[in-house]
Amino acid sequence: MTLGLTACSGPSGVHATSGSAGVGDPYFPKSGNGGYDVTHYDLTLAYTPDASDASDTSKTRDSAAAPTLTATATITARATTPLSTFDLDFQGMKVNSLTVDGKKASWTRGGQELKVRPPAALRKGRTFKTTVRYSGTPETITDPDGSDEGWLPTADGALALGEPTGSMAWFPGNDHPSDKATYDITITVPKGLQAVSNGELRSETTTGTARATTYSWHTPQPMATYLATVAIGHYDITRTTTRSGLPVYVAVDPQEAAASRKVLAELPEIMEWEEYNFGPYPFSSTGAIVDRGGDAGYALETQNRPFFPGAPDTATLVHELAHQWYGDSVTPKSWRDMWLNEGFATYAEWLWAEDHDGDTAQQTFDALYKGTYFDDKADDDAVWAFPPATPTSAAHISDSPVYERGAMVLHKIRLTVGDARFYDIIQGWAATHRHGNANTADFTAYVEKMAPAKDFTEIWKNWLYGHGKPARP
Ligand code: TRP
Ligand code: ZN
Repeated sequence: MTLGLTACSGPSGVHATSGSAGVGDPYFPKSGNGGYDVTHYDLTLAYTPDASDASDTSKTRDSAAAPTLTATATITARATTPLSTFDLDFQGMKVNSLTVDGKKASWTRGGQELKVRPPAALRKGRTFKTTVRYSGTPETITDPDGSDEGWLPTADGALALGEPTGSMAWFPGNDHPSDKATYDITITVPKGLQAVSNGELRSETTTGTARATTYSWHTPQPMATYLATVAIGHYDITRTTTRSGLPVYVAVDPQEAAASRKVLAELPEIMEWEEYNFGPYPFSSTGAIVDRGGDAGYALETQNRPFFPGAPDTATLVHELAHQWYGDSVTPKSWRDMWLNEGFATYAEWLWAEDHDGDTAQQTFDALYKGTYFDDKADDDAVWAFPPATPTSAAHISDSPVYERGAMVLHKIRLTVGDARFYDIIQGWAATHRHGNANTADFTAYVEKMAPAKDFTEIWKNWLYGHGKPARP
């Protein structure tokens, strides 16, 4: 289009507005942006762990030592309202140039908001491509709960982890779980290093002159920004397929190889058990990324390929793979709905134990209710700190009421409807919202629809939304 007001003639065009600087998340108000829907991210990244280059004498010692990311992000999106400006979430780094549909656009930055003014307003319904060229050392972001995410330098490379707001440290985007998109992530690293990401590896090319290797990863199913990952370093790579033919790509830091071998050998069996219990696997490949213990403070359900800081135990592998159904495929509409991720993934651990000669889910539930589950009383009490459906604040979205008490809600539903109907419900929930988003109200409505003769009033009121410990287990 040539002129915004011409192309957007009529009331909607004249009143083209600024897309909002957030999508109204109750816990992370700045996360995401209003006015558009991203359909695809094309990220081309080149990473130099140590940018020192003997041939470049212009560099000072300090700048030479800094790891550098040089990148281009092309974001395909559709305007959901007429837009004179729109925001992207992007924290740190340097923006070198920005175009919208190939035309130079102006931009301003403030905090995590990168505000873009295209040369002409965008009509509602219009699909547009924003290309951002950027460079620098990506930031590590500290969460309200004190954990680190975003871009994490490691001993032999770097790691990108995004929950809940880390993706904006390494690519500009609509950094909120409600806007899922497909991805192409291409990473160039110095020859000898590897780069692992989500989806399937399309190509791996080493050019002799550049002494660099380029890895191209393609994610064909929708993915939330917080699940996007890149792991750069030395890895032992194992490529296999499950019995059903699903590609498995596992990357393990050589230092963790021996400790990981036995548990990772269980991955195909865990996948089969989860497919049997949760329904068809929602993605076109699976696997794992195992880095060193100190590389991050937590495991994460990065799509296709969960991340582990050091060799996981079986329960953690079961947990992160269960998230592929509950979290990655069925994604929360907002960060308030976190228990739909963590309650399900925790309950998956209980079910695995029950099916593999461990405690029954009932025993786990009882231990939690009695306060004999954790090693110390403070942890047992913390289960009742707030209702799973309404965490106290952003600092508490990964606390035990979300995980353990969330799992207890699922167990209460199971006791109410019986095993057969319960498995219908958890499979049907994954099928109904496959590759989509859902919230707590969607879930309670779904459960009620699936078991119309049962009464869930007490479970919702006391277990899901109620403050304090419910009177009776
Ligand atoms: N989702 C991760 C898991 O349970 C844990 C986690 C990592 C997390 N970072 C977070 C939870 C940030 C909430 C917020 O497997
Ligand atoms: Zn989890």
